[in-house]
Amino acid sequence: MPNRKIIVNAGTSADGFIARPDGDIDWLTSRPKPAGFYDMGKFTASIDTKILGRKTFEKSLTLGAKFDGKTKTYVYSTHLPASAVSGVEFVSQPIASFAQRLRAAPGRDIWMMGGGGVIASFLDAGAIDELIISVVPVLIGDGIPLIAPRHRHIGLDLLSSRQFEDGVVQLHYGITTP
Ligand SMILES: NC(=O)c1ccc[n+]([C@@H]2O[C@H](COP(=O)([O-])OP(=O)(O)OC[C@H]3O[C@@H](n4cnc5c(N)ncnc54)[C@H](OP(=O)(O)O)[C@@H]3O)[C@@H](O)[C@H]2O)c1
Repeated sequence: MPNRKIIVNAGTSADGFIARPDGDIDWLTSRPKPAGFYDMGKFTASIDTKILGRKTFEKSLTLGAKFDGKTKTYVYSTHLPASAVSGVEFVSQPIASFAQRLRAAPGRDIWMMGGGGVIASFLDAGAIDELIISVVPVLIGDGIPLIAPRHRHIGLDLLSSRQFEDGVVQLHYGITTP
């Protein structure tokens, strides 16, 4: 077991998408926030580092997200940004060595925020330890999948499942060691 785990935590439609094809996530963000907000407060207290794909980072900025440096934020991209972004470190190094360094460093767990492109890259590099998937009771028909499609066979251990009053089901999986 690594010193720190890299954990995907994301919301999906019941048909497995994290966003519409154009990146729209209104179907997710416009839902009323229930008391306790699916235990996200507890989860965010358990992490001190976030990893985002470049597209999710850009989308987050348009939604008003602030990256203030209190939580270490890494953005995966094959390009450096035109100008430095305060509180954010852009990364393009091979995932296996990056993840090995992060997991070995002292600290809390690491939130792999997505999207589907960077989750797939990390998963296929053996750099995801757990997934927490909150399945929202809605079908959106088409969109960006939670994990970019590619032939793979990765076994999962169901660690827990929770049902919330608004119909959201939260599935917590560990990756089965091959
Ligand atoms: N529902 C949810 O909980 C949730 C969570 C997260 C995101 N989202 C949504 O998902 C959408 C974005 O998802 P996405 O799958 O299109 O994109 P993404 O995973 O956020 O970003 C993809 C980008 O990450 C970089 N990247 C990925 N693998 C890499 C690697 N191995 N090395 C270097 N860079 C790498 C590349 O950036 P470059 O092109 O710059 O090289 C790639 O284009 C947004 O609409 C966002 O709002 C929803």
